[in-house]
Amino acid sequence: MKKVCGFAPASIGNFCVGFDVLGLALESIGDKVEVSLNGTDTNRITQIVNGENLPMSIDKNCCSVVIRKMQEALGNFRGLDIRIHKGFESGSGLGSSSASSAAAAFTYNEFLGKSFSDNELVAFAAEGERLASGTAHADNVAPALLGGLVLVRDNNPIDIIRLPIPKGLFVVILFPKIVVNTKDSRSVMQQNISLQTATNQWANMGALVASLYQNDLSLLSRAMVDEVAEPARALLIPKFEEIKAAAKQNDAISFGISGSGPSVFALTDNITQAKKIQEAMKQVFYNTSIDTMSLIESLANNKGARLVDTF
Ligand code: HSE
Repeated sequence: MKKVCGFAPASIGNFCVGFDVLGLALESIGDKVEVSLNGTDTNRITQIVNGENLPMSIDKNCCSVVIRKMQEALGNFRGLDIRIHKGFESGSGLGSSSASSAAAAFTYNEFLGKSFSDNELVAFAAEGERLASGTAHADNVAPALLGGLVLVRDNNPIDIIRLPIPKGLFVVILFPKIVVNTKDSRSVMQQNISLQTATNQWANMGALVASLYQNDLSLLSRAMVDEVAEPARALLIPKFEEIKAAAKQNDAISFGISGSGPSVFALTDNITQAKKIQEAMKQVFYNTSIDTMSLIESLANNKGARLVDTF
């Protein structure tokens, strides 16, 4: 029986300055989804590995909801068995629901023989985000599907711009292992911001994009300042200011919250420095009750969703 298995990576939503519109694909961690026909007219989730708390109900799981939307668009209701392999924790701020939603959209599209375009897949996968967090923001699902660093200029219709990444950059991630629910993290944000805050943020957003095209790491560093989400969300992240100081003291080019947190990330152009930043950020939690997960990735090769041989 035909089985297709796909992988989509974790991602850094917002990329500091672009709340709900910028996102960076990671490479080494992510989720896998496998689909096969089950001979009925109903989809089933048959297994979720490493996701004991996630819903098996097809109306409540982001993978089955995304696939259902794709089936409705095609009028194809041949039932599928869906297996999901979670590669990292939910509630980490690293785009857990997005990795699953993107893997589901990508894998089912491959199963169908590529019926949908990239933009259509982003729109379907964003429906998984709507289920998980209440809004269909695409800043995680777009990079999880397409790879690299992307700007979501519009959601309706999807309008995505792939941004260049200066050569030689590394990202250092620190996940203090507490769960921050995306819905909660969105609820602490102000619904209205001042004109001055908006002005500062769009100046930095423009400067960030310019820095990427100009390979200007000094400008990149000056531009990555988040006045919109960070002030509210920093309060949800234990020892936030200490982690930020640890990264900056070790010459991080920039530092920010990954998605809705609690994970944070720093950029550097030097692997030795990346290791120092990682160690310094981890040290903040030594002798505390909070465990951490951390990783360093080169940004040279973040490809997005792809087929894999094994589940
Ligand atoms: N842009 C989203 C947020 C990412 O900041 O809430 C998390 O899903």
